[in-house]
Amino acid sequence: MKIYHSIKDIQRDILAQKARGLSIGFVPTMGALHRGHLSLLERSVKENDISICSIFVNPIQFNHKQDLEKYPRSPEEDCKKLDNAGCDIVFAPSAGEMYPEEVKEHYDFGQIERVMEGEHRPGHFNGVAVVVKRLFDICMPHKAYFGEKDFQQLAIIKALVEQQNMSVEIMGCPIIREGDGLAMSSRNVRLSPEERSIAPAIFKTLNQIQQKAGQEPLQETIRKAKAYLNSLPGMKVEYIQITDEQSLMPVESWDDANQIRAFIALFLGDVRLIDNLKIIYGL
Ligand code: PAF
Repeated sequence: MKIYHSIKDIQRDILAQKARGLSIGFVPTMGALHRGHLSLLERSVKENDISICSIFVNPIQFNHKQDLEKYPRSPEEDCKKLDNAGCDIVFAPSAGEMYPEEVKEHYDFGQIERVMEGEHRPGHFNGVAVVVKRLFDICMPHKAYFGEKDFQQLAIIKALVEQQNMSVEIMGCPIIREGDGLAMSSRNVRLSPEERSIAPAIFKTLNQIQQKAGQEPLQETIRKAKAYLNSLPGMKVEYIQITDEQSLMPVESWDDANQIRAFIALFLGDVRLIDNLKIIYGL
């Protein structure tokens, strides 16, 4: 496995691979890799000749300095995991390499960036779009892999690719969960043992929403879900929303529901966690 820190070096290698007609799969990450990330890489390895993984904790997508400082980092372990999983190339640039000058790009993705994460984390999606666009320009992948845990991010990236007429194919991949249902996230390592034991309540609540779909007014389901999670020690719900999967606009009643998904964002202590579940109406 080759590890590059400079844009010039990785581009020289990728251009040579492309000249040989090889297909490139790309998994962008911020490191602190877990089985969720590795499942993306495994899929890339299956579907492409060459798989690239980037490790870059992107400072411009954090809207709280503390969150950036506390973001877990484990570059050596990450590289071992990637090597074992069949990664061919790691791209681990510095912030100076990615952002030699002040970032001036401003993207507008309309409504999908103004709800949920966009509403609660101002500037977050612009930071994601800027770095993903630059990483795509550098790595020139045929396919790029993103987890559905960040479902709204996935929608933003699909919109970015369309807006910018990029030729990369965006592959959404299922959420990988711990045995007790907690969605895998790099932030999970920051939970105390007590918080970790409470965290599966998030997925339990998403399943309760699924069970209640169509059985009681939708707003009542959301109210009860919020009340339950807020009653648990250290939990503070930021939002619970049930939205159309395409527009990401909240649905008002189960009768408006077509393709819908339930989303939860909350703080457990000072760790912010998100999760979501496709809701099959009528189950
Ligand atoms: O999902 C992530 O880890 C990040 O948002 C991404 C896509 C690597 C951009 O920094």
